[in-house]
Amino acid sequence: MAPINKESPIHNDTFQYVIGIDFGTTYSGAGYMFIKNGSRGDVVDIKDWPKNNGGRHYKIPTIIRYHKTDRSQYKCGLEAEKETEGYDSCIRLFKLRLSDSTRTDLTELPEGLDIVTVISDYLKYLHKNICSSIHKALGCNSAIFEKKIESFRYCLTVPAIWTNGAKSKMREACILAGIIDRNDHVDRLLMVGEPEAAAIYSEKMKGGISIKSGERLMIVDAGGGTVDLTTFEKTVNSFKEIVEGDGNSSGSSELDRRFREFLDLETRSFSLDDVSLDQLAETFRTKTKLEIDPDTPDDIVYIDLPRSLNGRTIENDNGFRMDIDSLCIPTSLLLTRVFDPVIEEIVLLIDYQLGALDKDLLHYIILVGGFGQNTYLLQRIKDEYPNEKIVGDIIVPDVRELAVVRGAVYFGLDPYSISHRRMRVSYGISISSPFNEDLDRPEYKVFNSHGDAYCRNRFDPLVTKGTDVSINDRISRKYTTQNSKTFSLKLYSYTGKVAPRYVSVNNEDAEGTANIVADFVVPLPVSHDKDTSFEMDMYFGHMEIKIEVTFDGSEEKRTFTASYN
Ligand SMILES: Nc1ncnc2c1ncn2[C@@H]1O[C@H](COP(=O)(O)OP(=O)(O)OP(=O)(O)O)[C@@H](O)[C@H]1O
Ligand SMILES: [Mg+2]
Repeated sequence: MAPINKESPIHNDTFQYVIGIDFGTTYSGAGYMFIKNGSRGDVVDIKDWPKNNGGRHYKIPTIIRYHKTDRSQYKCGLEAEKETEGYDSCIRLFKLRLSDSTRTDLTELPEGLDIVTVISDYLKYLHKNICSSIHKALGCNSAIFEKKIESFRYCLTVPAIWTNGAKSKMREACILAGIIDRNDHVDRLLMVGEPEAAAIYSEKMKGGISIKSGERLMIVDAGGGTVDLTTFEKTVNSFKEIVEGDGNSSGSSELDRRFREFLDLETRSFSLDDVSLDQLAETFRTKTKLEIDPDTPDDIVYIDLPRSLNGRTIENDNGFRMDIDSLCIPTSLLLTRVFDPVIEEIVLLIDYQLGALDKDLLHYIILVGGFGQNTYLLQRIKDEYPNEKIVGDIIVPDVRELAVVRGAVYFGLDPYSISHRRMRVSYGISISSPFNEDLDRPEYKVFNSHGDAYCRNRFDPLVTKGTDVSINDRISRKYTTQNSKTFSLKLYSYTGKVAPRYVSVNNEDAEGTANIVADFVVPLPVSHDKDTSFEMDMYFGHMEIKIEVTFDGSEEKRTFTASYN
């Protein structure tokens, strides 16, 4: 592994405020902290969102509704909940489009708008309200506040399973939303994994658990869209990812999707119209699933019938019945058909992380996220892991839905609190190396000016899948280039166990070769007829892959993140 960089690999400017933003699949929230002369207070949760009477909710719905003809007008959050004349219907769950392009049940985006634009419009709304909330709290005039904004550092939470491509789209959305400027240092906006942020918060919260150095903990962030898991080991001052983050789409909205399917099937003989079915599904989403009581599996769950269906009595063979003003569903049927398949997926993810620990005791499972409040999910997890020699304790923090956003603020204050990350894939670059007559492909043979034979398109692995990479680990390469305005470093990756010999040069040979995943484009200083030489330091242990470029003869380092294919 690369030598430890003695210099700080994270640019900590004179930021005075750290703003944490949790852009969630179903709900989003934000919080901030003021740092005065190095001293810190508590995280201030932002609650004065428009229409949030008296700060009832900490998070606002991740929904957006565009004007039918003028797409520059849109409503978000609580302001988008009610239908408004001239506006399209609500777009929900759009965050899932960044990780799961196969979902066919998501609302179409308005014509002409891509996902990055929609996310940036939503982020713009969040940011505007974050700023007005902080401005109000400070009570200063607008000119002073505008100046203060320059000292804001942002910390955005991202799911553990997101690809580099999804993260780079999020960064682009933040730039389009005006949260950061394209010319800002990349570290003005940091990204932190949702489970990482929750791990940090588990120690900071009131009555927080004190995790001893060497103890292991697994964060299970059961949210609206995804369930994200990561297993960490506590080191003296930080957390080290010891099992690579994993997750899938078995969040709470999967319960909603399954309920709708279940409803369609069970009411087939009742001839209900779509509008009534939608209303029943909405009551399940906002009420029934939250109140499900695992202690009464013999009971019945009652869902209010829409008025149009009142007065009907009908029952199917499974005991699923409409009775005057209620839909009556046997609790056990609802648990086995809607909840269990989703929870089994979550248990599988936990098993997989435990398997990777190879019988080492997991001291804590910490369950966070909105779905983490579900008593049936908690009971099922407790039942699944009764042996204290395998899982020591299962903990549910007090403010589950805020653990991630508050943790993000703490991370922004101390980005070193996550010291190591596990590589999910292997990365490398393309090089030319001395030609091996026995092994190398003749079509890749080239000669240098001294007549030595080289092989082009060889793959040079830099970091390997499954290894621990510290945030200080740096891999350096020197480059010299002639007469060009930009230099482009292409990053290749592969997921297999054995490093391929070549990088892919066209689509046909993609198999068994490393594929291009990212491109770092570095603008070069103007030079006249002479070579430009520079050193490139690459960091793989951060949430986003970063490179730092230092031109020969200059002290200044310039930092870049990649754009992804
Ligand atoms: N008791 C409960 N049982 C099941 N689901 C619940 C419960 N309480 C809240 N939820 C669901 O939790 C979700 C909100 O949780 P959270 O704010 O953690 O998700 P998110 O951050 O929007 O999603 P993600 O983290 O996947 O992007 C909503 O889908 C909500 O319906
Ligand atoms: Mg979340």
